[in-house]
Amino acid sequence: MATSNATLCQNYIGGRWVNSTSKQTHRITNPAHGSSVVATVQASVVEDAEDAVQASANALNSWSSTPAPQRSAILYKAYELMRDQEDEFARTITLEEGKPLADARGEVKRSLNIIEYAAGEGRRMFGYTTPSELTSTLAYTVRRPVGVVAIITPWNFPLAIPTWKIAPALICGNTVVFKPASSTPLSAVKLVEIFEKAGLPPGVLNLVTGTGASIGDHIVTHPKVQGISFTGSTEIGAKLYAQAAERLKKVQCEMGGKNAVIVLADADINHALGGIVQAAFGSTGQRCTATSRVIVEESAYDSFIQELIRHTRRLKVGDGMDPEVDVGPTASEAQFRKIIEYINIGTSEGARLIYGGKALTGRQNEGGYYVEPTIFADVDPKMRIAQEEIFGPVLTVFKAKDLEEAIAIANNVQFGLSSSIYCRDLAKAFQYVEQVEAGMVHINSPTLGGEVHLPFGGTKASGVGAREQGTEAVNFFSEVVTVYVDYAGNRTQAKFI
Ligand code: UN1
Repeated sequence: MATSNATLCQNYIGGRWVNSTSKQTHRITNPAHGSSVVATVQASVVEDAEDAVQASANALNSWSSTPAPQRSAILYKAYELMRDQEDEFARTITLEEGKPLADARGEVKRSLNIIEYAAGEGRRMFGYTTPSELTSTLAYTVRRPVGVVAIITPWNFPLAIPTWKIAPALICGNTVVFKPASSTPLSAVKLVEIFEKAGLPPGVLNLVTGTGASIGDHIVTHPKVQGISFTGSTEIGAKLYAQAAERLKKVQCEMGGKNAVIVLADADINHALGGIVQAAFGSTGQRCTATSRVIVEESAYDSFIQELIRHTRRLKVGDGMDPEVDVGPTASEAQFRKIIEYINIGTSEGARLIYGGKALTGRQNEGGYYVEPTIFADVDPKMRIAQEEIFGPVLTVFKAKDLEEAIAIANNVQFGLSSSIYCRDLAKAFQYVEQVEAGMVHINSPTLGGEVHLPFGGTKASGVGAREQGTEAVNFFSEVVTVYVDYAGNRTQAKFI
């Protein structure tokens, strides 16, 4: 077992790198070679989480009263430090999560964009003034931080998701308890390190690694934690939302997806295929904006399927460190098992397996968690593989007689994150925009991703609370305070109604 290069990841609490009070660690392996240990990470317990919350609470007054443009200066410095280590960040992501280096580079670029955008907010963070009903009265709004916020993130974007929560939280003057996914601590540590080097004062950003089961509840239910931003499964998000609601905490949960693409017969089919194959199998389908369903208009169905297979056949599966590779391993043994189980479910439900469907076990894949890109055709909307989030390289294909039926199939799931339509008829495209149930809608482009200055998030079981990113992030990470000033002080009596 290759342990010699394994990095020891510590918690970062109150400006110091420390071991867990439990003195326990667990091992992180590279999903491309399951037996190679890349890090040992603190198996934190409630005491560590408590220390992190207390450190955040202690740092709050001073950070929240630091002028926002000064907070910006620290974020800009962090931006420069990350940019100087772009390649190292990308390799770290690939090492612990498995995605191909090109995808990891994209993730770093996105993280840089986020920090840059959030830093700029330090010179905006607008409130507004408006006429008062009363004489000699100034009425305006200002933004205040929420307080101590908990940031709980998943393993599939181990850098970008933490960054797009932490950067806006910090610029708004909050202090942060950051719990990354227990299987991807390396990117999290590197992210915290650059904020430390950029001059973030002790206690403003605190990192505790460990499982949700051991420290999640303590953080989420802590009376000193006023806000929670979570990305992960709908199951955990629903539980967390209830815990937060009961305690009247501000909360946003970004959860699963079952994103559909509609392909109408008049579409540029080649263009559609490019977007669909990339969004279904890129990042091994392990992103909440991945395409997992394609709904094709009847008259184009058979030729579409042939071409879909031809395009998918070109993909190279392997270790993400290899620049030729398009599809990396699944991120962990647990993911691998879950995806294989769903493929078996699809077959037993009677869907037609038209491509892939197997684990890859050749010599070059030894020890890694590889699954072939997999396509099921003639899928019935009621099947489990049509309804449940698989979070892997499995695409389901449906036939619809027209746009109306296609939209009905697209909407017939509990999720509503991202969606797309490929067609040339603008009237149909906009009918789709009006009727599809999703937080992000694309026309002639893949379901993937989003730009950092635009809102990101979904409807239905995909998201609750404010959207992420863009000015929505500032709305979430700040409270609006309304101020009335009687500047002449000569009113006989203020007549507020
Ligand atoms: C993206 O797909 O570009 O967990 C970002 C996820 C989402 C983020 C996806 N919250 O996959």
